Amino acid sequence: MNALVINGPNLNMLGIREPDIYGRQTYDDLIKLCRAAGEREGFDAVDVYQSNHEGDLIDTIQQALGVYDGIVINPAAYTHTSVGILDALKAVQIPAVEVHISAVDERESFRQISYAGMACFDRVVGEGLTGYARALHILKEHLS
Ligand code: DQA
Repeated sequence: MNALVINGPNLNMLGIREPDIYGRQTYDDLIKLCRAAGEREGFDAVDVYQSNHEGDLIDTIQQALGVYDGIVINPAAYTHTSVGILDALKAVQIPAVEVHISAVDERESFRQISYAGMACFDRVVGEGLTGYARALHILKEHLS
């Protein structure tokens, strides 16, 4: 069983960007965390992808069809704007869990809407990077 973790814009800047909100761990730390969590959960493979470009994220979701059993997605800023990412997730119908490092529900009003979340069966918010491990756990339970 394979999972794909998809990360949107500025998440490559983890450790540098707004550390009071996103912490001091880096994007490399996140990749390692996802791979270790994937192994613990018994996935055969967990691939981790990041892009700053909406179209690339959409292409990646489309290309996941027939390759991955599940998706964990943090669309970052595109969460709150992208109907295109929502439509891509709906098109492929791959079970997906939404994750956010910060407590988006307690932040600015423009972060309260999640388009991608409308195509996800569960969400993990405000748990820092470990939220990805929890999302992979939720995904594995759902797929098993
Ligand atoms: C984020 C929350 C978004 O509102 C923000 O634009 C991000 C990161 C999070 O993981 O907390 O870039 O998705």
